[in-house]
Amino acid sequence: MAQYFDNVDLKSEIRKINVSIFDFSLSFFTDNGVFCKEHLDFGTRLLLENIPWNEIQGNILDVGCGYGPIGIISAKLTGQPVTMCDVNKRALHLAKMNAKENLVDATILESNCYENITGIFDTIITNPPIRAGKKIVYDILFQAKSYLSSMGKLFLVIHKDQGAKSVIKDLEKEYEVTVLEKNKGFFVIMCKIH
Ligand SMILES: C[S@@+](CC[C@H](N)C(=O)[O-])C[C@H]1O[C@@H](n2cnc3c(N)ncnc32)[C@H](O)[C@@H]1O
Repeated sequence: MAQYFDNVDLKSEIRKINVSIFDFSLSFFTDNGVFCKEHLDFGTRLLLENIPWNEIQGNILDVGCGYGPIGIISAKLTGQPVTMCDVNKRALHLAKMNAKENLVDATILESNCYENITGIFDTIITNPPIRAGKKIVYDILFQAKSYLSSMGKLFLVIHKDQGAKSVIKDLEKEYEVTVLEKNKGFFVIMCKIH
């Protein structure tokens, strides 16, 4: 079965969606073959609404950026340097269009997990690609440690039907874990390096 990140044969039908979040009214281009093309994903919104933005300083990495909502809204909120990556070329094209559309200057690059990521980040944020399989999700969550500064934090959202509870148990072996919010089965999680 075709996955949303495996979209070479899908006809492109770029459209614009409007997103109101915090005090912002933003527009995003989306397309067939990208995650949640019709609206801002509920889990992504919950993640964004529960990150303690007043504590966020320094550079930010959005892993699995899709059409770009996490990275672009993070940049709008903090004014900090943002890097965004994905494996989906169509999503990356949209993320670049959306950064321009929303007047955000971000580094946007193709990367399988952290393969093409260099440098260290103060914040890593992800709505991980559950459909890509556990290995990819765990690579994103656990390799984050090598890309975080010593006081850095990883933020993620995951649903209980996607194994949130066992993911939290596994994260607790490597990080100091705080559940920031639970809503409709989604868990917003913050991980700090021990
Ligand atoms: C759940 S979606 C989230 C998209 C976007 N951040 C949002 O919140 O709307 C996960 C994203 O991870 C991307 N992805 C899948 N496998 C990946 C990998 N190995 N490395 C980086 N990104 C990947 C998918 O293409 C998809 O855009």
